[in-house]
Amino acid sequence: MTVRTTIEQAAKSVIGALTPGESQPDILETLQAEHDEVQQLLEKLVKSDAAREQKALVTKIKNALVPHTKAEERVVYDAVLALRGKDAKIDSNEGFIEHGLADATLKKLEKLSDNTPEFKAAAKVLKELIDHHVEEEERNIWAQVKEHFSADQREQMNRAFLAAKKKVKIA
Ligand SMILES: [Fe+2]
Ligand SMILES: [Fe+2]
Repeated sequence: MTVRTTIEQAAKSVIGALTPGESQPDILETLQAEHDEVQQLLEKLVKSDAAREQKALVTKIKNALVPHTKAEERVVYDAVLALRGKDAKIDSNEGFIEHGLADATLKKLEKLSDNTPEFKAAAKVLKELIDHHVEEEERNIWAQVKEHFSADQREQMNRAFLAAKKKVKIA
């Protein structure tokens, strides 16, 4: 590495630190990473036959899913719901309902004994629900976000999303 490139890189990192929002990701990148994480955990859960592992996975899923959905409602859904247009209102209302169904299924799953047919059924329902929800959310809600919010606004939404997540109490 030459002295010049080292200086250039140092200058870039200083400018990056001074410019607010410079290194902030787009909210959709954060949501994508979190969707992938929860879907991978659910995939493991439905394949697992070990009660101990199932219990640990349910806890992990809850800790990832609850802050995600609550913060998403506050930062993304409320913003989409406030847009004009029937589709935006229907899509966001559908998302709210599906979040509620996922929450209720998760609570049911926690009450069931691990590795029973009932537990396996509830785990499957939760996975199917989330897979369906994520698919529609990434298609419909994200289309609204991309259409109506600028790159700057989406970076601000990311900041607000991370802050809202911290405030969520996992019951
Ligand atoms: Fe989501
Ligand atoms: Fe969602």
